Amino acid sequence: DWTMDAVVDTQVAAIKAQVGGSHVICALSGGVDSAVAAALVQRAIGDQLHCVLVDHGLMRRGEVAQVTRDFESSTGASLRVIDASARFLDALAGVTDPELKRKIIGREFIRVFEGAARDVLDEATDAGREVDFLVQGTLYPDVVESGGGEGAANIKSHHNVGGLPDDLQFGLIEPLRALFKDEVRRVGIELGLPEQLVWRQPFPGPGLALRIIGEITHERLEIVRAADQIVRDELTAAGLDREIWQCPVVLLADVRSVGVQGDGRTYGHPIVLRPVSSEDAMTADWSRLPYDVLARVSNRITNEVREVNRVTLDITSKPPGTIEWE
Ligand code: XMP
Repeated sequence: DWTMDAVVDTQVAAIKAQVGGSHVICALSGGVDSAVAAALVQRAIGDQLHCVLVDHGLMRRGEVAQVTRDFESSTGASLRVIDASARFLDALAGVTDPELKRKIIGREFIRVFEGAARDVLDEATDAGREVDFLVQGTLYPDVVESGGGEGAANIKSHHNVGGLPDDLQFGLIEPLRALFKDEVRRVGIELGLPEQLVWRQPFPGPGLALRIIGEITHERLEIVRAADQIVRDELTAAGLDREIWQCPVVLLADVRSVGVQGDGRTYGHPIVLRPVSSEDAMTADWSRLPYDVLARVSNRITNEVREVNRVTLDITSKPPGTIEWE
């Protein structure tokens, strides 16, 4: 049984020894693992670390700003945020197939990250330095499960920058390789990362692309963001954040439903709430949320999000249903 301050000391020493005077690049996803890995490396080598966050435009409302603020203020690390949302939206135009969405997002992610890595490399080279290493937030279950199609290994699929060209190959720094998720959280707290970052619920790399059933457009993203914001606010206000594993909010963009809102009949879209409880995302059960919370969410969404006139609750366990709808 080891304590997390010992883990921090050991990893900081190991990273210093591995990196020496080189520079290091890290892709932050907004999730716990990459943030904790980056914070550990920052603790070890300070401004030899260069963090990049690729904003694919598929995050929830305010999320990029929040992650940036939380990460920068708690670690002091330099973070460059690359707004690539127009590029991702273009690449996804007309695409409805879930696996094709994932493939396109993975491909674009690598291209954008590659560009950022070259910029970092150029700047470091001007300063007479070299960038030799890449940080990855690989956890112990990822190591064990690598090759598995579901769950943890799958979660990494689009952040795993194995597809970089030959002249951009880096040595890997994986300071979380021996840790489980709860230990990673404790290390994050030990490093002074804020609770909302350390306890962030899982969110898929391809983001809201998987929560718009149908083609992804700017307008549809705004609809799902507005509904998701209400759900997150109400779950937080009800103190339920740590009770539920995650709660996808899904827009059935190609389905229309009739409603009466305000002055008359509307022809809008249904939203699906998918709150689940789970230990590891491999299996899950639907969360028995209190009726009053569900009622508030439903009322607020149909009042505040003009395009949505129906709120439905997904009561399928996993299996047979997956957590995400795509
Ligand atoms: P499913 O939908 O397969 O999801 O039950 C299991 C967990 O993985 C997340 N998920 C993904 N994460 N890229 C990711 O990074 C993906 O393509 C992806 N698909 C699902 C999902 O949110 C849940 O936590």
